[in-house]
Amino acid sequence: MSKASVVPIPANQLIFSQGELGDKAYIIEKGRVLIYLTKDNEDFPLSILGEGEIFGEMAIIDNQVRSASAKTLDDCSLLVVTKDQLLERVQSADTVVRLLLRVLLKRLRSQNDLIVVQPKKKIFNTQKAHQEDKQAVEKIKLEARIANAFDNKEFVMFYQPILDLKTEKIVAAEALIRWFPPTGEQISPAVFMDVVENSSMIIPFGKWIVEKCFSDLKKIQLSHALCHDFSISINISGKQFTHIDFINDVESLRKRLALEAPSIKLEMTERVMMDGNVALDTLLRFDQLGYKLSIDDFGTGFSSLQYLFRMPLDNIKIDRSFVRDMMKDDKALAIVKSLIYLAQSLRMKVIAEGIEKEEEKHLLKALGVDFAQGFLFSKAIPLEELLKKLIPSS
Ligand code: CMP
Ligand code: MG
Repeated sequence: MSKASVVPIPANQLIFSQGELGDKAYIIEKGRVLIYLTKDNEDFPLSILGEGEIFGEMAIIDNQVRSASAKTLDDCSLLVVTKDQLLERVQSADTVVRLLLRVLLKRLRSQNDLIVVQPKKKIFNTQKAHQEDKQAVEKIKLEARIANAFDNKEFVMFYQPILDLKTEKIVAAEALIRWFPPTGEQISPAVFMDVVENSSMIIPFGKWIVEKCFSDLKKIQLSHALCHDFSISINISGKQFTHIDFINDVESLRKRLALEAPSIKLEMTERVMMDGNVALDTLLRFDQLGYKLSIDDFGTGFSSLQYLFRMPLDNIKIDRSFVRDMMKDDKALAIVKSLIYLAQSLRMKVIAEGIEKEEEKHLLKALGVDFAQGFLFSKAIPLEELLKKLIPSS
């Protein structure tokens, strides 16, 4: 890491001229700096900057030439900010923030252009920035559409049945969100949930999901007296789980509907659990209250086993990618076997997802998997269809 350098510059000295290439910005530690434009030998002052202010940042951020000239008005001390220092920050910012920066800089440059005509020297390829801007705009648009759709109640919970492999009866279901925009064109949950989970929308959204799942679970239990052992799996995101009100909200809703905590399973991905944000004490609290905790997509993350096994988990769900590959790939099969062995040794139940073929079901059953989920049995279906499937056949 290079050390920050402070340069003394006497009064009335040019620091840089408009139209030059720039490789550093400055923070004024002492003195004043004049920012100005020149046209036909005439200077047009833009601003007088003082202590603590930064200048010369634009040429670095938007990779264009200096938008104005700078000269000292007093004896100055300037702290040099390197190109790398600035760019590191810009590049690690959110794509939307980067887009906003570019928009603002472009606006400022064109305002300056109104004063003088700048040399229009393009020195970088705008292709990449263009692509990124498009994606950032799409992201904002999608966020706005999701918020709208949420208000318009366009989201629906579907349920994918989970079977006990011994009896082949439906004993649970995983709640999976679906979006039906009025235009008819469906948007994959993988796409919109990624946007939701990375925004503050996840809090009201997650709350709605929990409420919907709980009231549907109540409906299932009321219409099927035999279904008291039936449980519902709800996917919980990291942000939701760490939200301060999460336990209290979930608990008060559960009590209001008189649901049993063991019939509620909270599913979190391995990545979320390993994030370090998922407080062990929140997991322990849910465990004490009787909720079931399940780890989703098991085997795909980066679990520290030691950490994982301190968590009060009831289930692991073997990721569909292993189930898909295990019949033709010995390594995938070896992973499936060891995940099952691991879970059994720790007295956790094993769910396998993504089962599509009879032979997959037979193999997983023989290996000791407890529960199964996949297109072989059913895709995710609306509550009404699930209720019909739950009617005992005898
Ligand atoms: P840069 O384009 O690298 O070099 C000139 C600097 O002047 C620029 O970064 C900004 O820090 C500053 N600057 C440009 N335009 C204005 C303006 N209209 N008002 C104040 N400061 C400006
Ligand atoms: Mg899941």
